[in-house]
Amino acid sequence: MSVKEEILRVFENGRGEYFSGEQLAARLGVSRTAVWKAVKQLEEDGYHFDAVTGKGYSLSSGSDVISADGIKKYLGDCAGQCNIKTRKTVSSTNTLLKEMAAEGAAEWTVLVAAHQTAGKGRLNRRFHSPDGTGLYLSILLRPKMSASESLFITTAAAVAVARTVEEVSGRTAGIKWVNDVFMDGRKICGILTEASFDMESGGLEYAVCGIGVNICPPQDGFPEEIRETAGSVFAVPPDGDMKNRIAAGIIQKLTEYYTAFPAHGFLEEYQKRSVVVGKNITVIGKGEAREAIALAIDSDCRLIVRYTDGSEEALRSGEVSIRAESH
Ligand code: BTN
Repeated sequence: MSVKEEILRVFENGRGEYFSGEQLAARLGVSRTAVWKAVKQLEEDGYHFDAVTGKGYSLSSGSDVISADGIKKYLGDCAGQCNIKTRKTVSSTNTLLKEMAAEGAAEWTVLVAAHQTAGKGRLNRRFHSPDGTGLYLSILLRPKMSASESLFITTAAAVAVARTVEEVSGRTAGIKWVNDVFMDGRKICGILTEASFDMESGGLEYAVCGIGVNICPPQDGFPEEIRETAGSVFAVPPDGDMKNRIAAGIIQKLTEYYTAFPAHGFLEEYQKRSVVVGKNITVIGKGEAREAIALAIDSDCRLIVRYTDGSEEALRSGEVSIRAESH
């Protein structure tokens, strides 16, 4: 571990505390110049320090920088099983983690980034991933389960996100089937799980569950095409260590649900959080868009819909949009 990483660990674990250059140098067995250089490097990385004469430096509450130690601090018991890797900018955390998976990376390798230049969404869409205002993470799983069972990974992740953002913000989070998390009618998170299958056994080789959360609005606003539909967990940049907290909350809850598979204890909560059930919707399938009412989500996580002609269908995947109520 470099001096910079060691110093960051001390500051992350002692948020709110002050450390003098002398204390840090003695604690790490390095010179005060080395400490000073490391603090400068951390400032260049985006960390902010409060300096008080006679007390030293403290990590400022406005320092919301993603770091492995910052995430592990909140992870509790599952910190040991996770290999957290953080990057400032990547093309796509899903793409990179899939490459790492193909090279043999272990289950629970987690790649977290502050910015994606080629964030991927479902249905070959792009996921807007601006620098500094979002959290983009991908989790590598190697489930010993059938492909159909592995669909529940996304469902479990949606519940993990909804719970976490609700806990940290106090705002209610809903889930729009299949895997979007909503707050006040706007999408604040999208999830894309990509899997690789073993051609011989037909089983799953790995699954990469990618989660993108809009923490606060992008500095220059959301792009035109999502301006009416996208939202964020907070209206303004939150104080404190929010991205690390949210990342840890999601990982921790997903661990809990995933280790209980094939039990789907989270499914009831997924159903309760649905913002679609009971609504008039448009089903955007392979063919033409059809109007329907969403009746329920069943135990296989299928959306049961009734079309205007009275016929019913259980949808496994696809896309629905909620129609504005007509009065
Ligand atoms: C969607 O809304 O269609 C799914 C969006 C998934 C975005 C996340 S961000 C982290 C991970 N890396 C990606 O490129 N995509 C997922």
